[in-house]
Amino acid sequence: MNDPAFVLWMTGLSGAGKSTITDALAKELQRRGRAFEVLDGDVVRTHLTSGLGFSKADRDTNVRRIGWVARTLAKHGCIALCAVISPYRAIRDEIRAQSVAPFVEVFVHAPLEVVEGRDVKGLYRRARAGEIRGFTGIDDPYEEPRTPEITCRTDRQTVEESVAQILAWLEARGLLEAEGA
Ligand code: ADX
Repeated sequence: MNDPAFVLWMTGLSGAGKSTITDALAKELQRRGRAFEVLDGDVVRTHLTSGLGFSKADRDTNVRRIGWVARTLAKHGCIALCAVISPYRAIRDEIRAQSVAPFVEVFVHAPLEVVEGRDVKGLYRRARAGEIRGFTGIDDPYEEPRTPEITCRTDRQTVEESVAQILAWLEARGLLEAEGA
C-alpha cells in the first residue's frame, strides 16, 4: 500500500453529475483495492455539517470542514473523493493550499440550462418558483474554476467517459497504478 493518496475534489452545479461520477469512481477504486472515502455534500450535511444552511458563511464552513477531513484522510493514505458544489473559488483554493497530498480539482460541468432541464431533485423548479432562496446558479453564485486539473463536460460525455478521463489523468501522473493493456 505505497500508492500515493490524494484529494479528488469534484465541484460544479447541483445536478451536474458530481455524485454519480464519484460513486462510479468509488466502485472502480474498490475493484482496484485502494483505500478511499467518499465525502458527498448531501450526505455530509446530515452529520458533520448538519445544521448549516446555504448562506455564504455556512457554505464556507461546510466546504472547509469537508476539506479538513479530506486532507486528513489523504495524509494517512486514504484517497478522499469529495463531491461538493463548493461555489466559491477562494475557499476551494484555500483547501488546495492546505492539502499536503496532491489536490485534484475536477470541474463537473454542464450548462445551467442542461442541469436545470434534468432537475433530478426538482430543486431548480422550486428555486425558480421562489420556494428556495439562494439556490446556486439561480440566485446565488457559482464561480467556475479557472485552472481545474480536469474538466468533465457531462452534457457531452457519459458517466463512463468521465470516469475513464479521470482515471487516465490519475494514472498518467502516477497517482493510480495503470492497469495492464
Ligand atoms: S455547498 O454549496 O455547501 O458546497 P453542498 O454540496 O454541501 O453545497 O450541498 C448541495 C446540495 O444541497 C444540492 O445538491 C441540493 O440537493 C441541496 N441544496 C439545498 N438548498 C440549496 C441551495 N440553496 N443551493 C444549492 N444546493 C442546495
